[in-house]
Amino acid sequence: MLDVATIRKDFPVLERQVHGRGLVYLDSAASSQVPRQVMDACEHADAEHRANVHRGVHALAEETTEAYEGARLRIAEFVGADPRGVVFTKNATEAFNIIAHSYARERLGEGDILLSTVMEHHANLVPWQQAQQAAGFELRYVPLTPEGHLDREAFDAIVATGRVKLLTVTAMSNVLGTINPVAELAAAVRAANEDAVVVVDGAQSVPHLPTDLRALDADFLCFSGHKMLGPTGIGCLVGDPELLDAMPPFLTGGEMILDVTLEGAVFNEVPYKFEAGTPPYVQAIGLGRAVDYLQGLGMDAVRDHEIALLETALPALREIDGLTVHGPSDPRQRGAAVSFAVQGLHPHDLGTVMDREGVAVRAGHHCAKPLLRSLGTAATTRASFYLYNTPEEVTSLVEAIEATRRFFRV
Ligand SMILES: Cc1ncc(COP(=O)(O)O)c(C=O)c1O
Repeated sequence: MLDVATIRKDFPVLERQVHGRGLVYLDSAASSQVPRQVMDACEHADAEHRANVHRGVHALAEETTEAYEGARLRIAEFVGADPRGVVFTKNATEAFNIIAHSYARERLGEGDILLSTVMEHHANLVPWQQAQQAAGFELRYVPLTPEGHLDREAFDAIVATGRVKLLTVTAMSNVLGTINPVAELAAAVRAANEDAVVVVDGAQSVPHLPTDLRALDADFLCFSGHKMLGPTGIGCLVGDPELLDAMPPFLTGGEMILDVTLEGAVFNEVPYKFEAGTPPYVQAIGLGRAVDYLQGLGMDAVRDHEIALLETALPALREIDGLTVHGPSDPRQRGAAVSFAVQGLHPHDLGTVMDREGVAVRAGHHCAKPLLRSLGTAATTRASFYLYNTPEEVTSLVEAIEATRRFFRV
């Protein structure tokens, strides 16, 4: 059980008032809030030992390098990966771009299928579309069932062709909340084609579920720091070091080389081969501290807390006249991002009036336009919960929706 009252004291922003009311922050699927401990770690890095990593011989440079590499070790342990396979990126989006550029374009070609799903975020769609234009492979998408699960029959039929060379799938949808059976899907794809690789979008799952790369049976995992209590401008591409080693670099320049002549360069070993230029070392140190914070609470406890919130929120939302919740109804099959529609209300109007009530939710397409088209809508309102949210805030959510319905007389 999480001690939420104590946890909330670590998040100064949760004390804020907006529009004269106490803030109810329900937009953590977009960006989570940051605990004081992470802010302190970043401030300490700047105040006490700011210096570029891997270059200096002086004490400050050594201390920063140690803190930076220490963060890598802790993140590797957090997701069950080899630290040599943990590449620091700007965000999940950059991680997908690296795989699309340095793996898909290089290794897939005509006759191969890159299999994705209709529920993916644009970050896990557009890079593959660009790679397809260059490499000429076939891009196929698994459709969804009415409850927002992947259509397993359609998946099996595509996999049975034996031509799926790369599967990319989100572990948790940022719109529907759906948790996908990644390991099962990976096993099916590998059974049909032993050369296939599996890419997992962990942007929503890594902050909210215990994660183990080996248990997921994935070759690559992409996620962002800003959704898991960390700073902005830092994310990770986590992969099998051997696979990464065999891939050409994405960005080139300093840091990612062992030697440079006027004619060419010898690239550094992984993960540095994919970390061209000065990395966001302060942010990486902050993400390492965020991982410590999450591990201190325990990811099982975080997940249990969110299930408990969903057990309160889902029935309460469904009781509201004209409200439809998208995605799975069973809290155990979904994460705590809850998209909904209210008859007669535009999601943006709903989000705007709820904000006046102090409740911060997200309204829009959530960077998943193909998914929203498949739901037959252009936008939804989304409330997303995290470890600092309380059952009282679920009540505030419901009250804010009811207040908006009264305001618009629907
Ligand atoms: C499921 C999913 N994948 C990928 C991303 C992209 O993350 P970022 O914008 O941090 O690169 C997001 C962000 O909303 C997401 O929710």
